Amino acid sequence: MLPTASSAPGQPETAGDRDGRLGVRLADVGVVYDTKDGDSVEAVRSASGHIADGRFVSLIGPSGCGKSTLLDVVGGLLAPRSGTVTIDGEPVTGPRRDTAMVFQEDSTLHWRTVLSNVAFGLEIAGVGRKQREAAAGDIVALVGLTGFEHRHPRELSGGMKQRVAIARALVADPRILLMDEPFGALDQQTRMFMGRELLRVWDETRKSVVFVTHDIQEAVYLSDEVWVMSARPSEFTAKVVVDLDRPRGPGTMSSRRFHDLTSQVWEVLRVESEKALDAQRELEP
Ligand SMILES: Nc1ncnc2c1ncn2[C@@H]1O[C@H](COP(=O)(O)OP(=O)(O)OP(=O)(O)O)[C@@H](O)[C@H]1O
Ligand SMILES: [Mg+2]
Repeated sequence: MLPTASSAPGQPETAGDRDGRLGVRLADVGVVYDTKDGDSVEAVRSASGHIADGRFVSLIGPSGCGKSTLLDVVGGLLAPRSGTVTIDGEPVTGPRRDTAMVFQEDSTLHWRTVLSNVAFGLEIAGVGRKQREAAAGDIVALVGLTGFEHRHPRELSGGMKQRVAIARALVADPRILLMDEPFGALDQQTRMFMGRELLRVWDETRKSVVFVTHDIQEAVYLSDEVWVMSARPSEFTAKVVVDLDRPRGPGTMSSRRFHDLTSQVWEVLRVESEKALDAQRELEP
């Protein structure tokens, strides 16, 4: 791995975890897909990193570099070809109850109300109606949907549907939230607003978050660290530690430091995106 783009020191450890055992650890993770026509695609070559408990880490990289692939590996939906992923020192061998995913596309169950969408995971887990509706009600309030409990998804805006998706992921109280471009389908203003809301929720719950995005400003604004991936087959080319004060707000984006950090990320991302485009051109007939 190349040196970090940031001059900031290594990742701080969380209190009480001096040996860095807690959290998600990727060690030389490599992923190869076998395609239907007998070929293979090396998506990720060697990804290593540690997401300490309660940290907010964004993954950014050229399209097709393996961001969703890595989330699937951490979420236990895909086995790596090489290397390991551990959570609190235990190897990930399949989906876990302490991990939840949020996707870009609308994942609401359109025939169910907001409350019953959010309660769905608890229903599957066999939690009784009263208990699951109480828990779902709390989470609906946390994501700012009070008053919409009995609406159906078709009556909600795109941003509200993503709030439902986040609530669905939070209801079982996972420790690790894996978010794959959760605001990618939203307009810029809604997206910025949702980012602020996500930070508010994160501040209250302090989950570990792995957040995939294509938006450099979003990544820097939200995160403790931004990990930049190389063109495929990927590795982490840079890890930029975001030392902006929290809580963050409208003033954050106009600060000099914010500008410096986004420039640092862009410098690395630009090079990798050019490489990815060149590789794509070579494949074109
Ligand atoms: N099921 C699959 N079979 C074969 N190849 C796959 C499969 N899923 C992904 N790939 C390939 O693996 C690489 C990484 O894909 P992935 O979806 O993880 O990229 P990404 O970084 O999330 O891209 P994007 O930014 O466009 O969402 C791509 O080249 C993709 O074509
Ligand atoms: Mg993706």
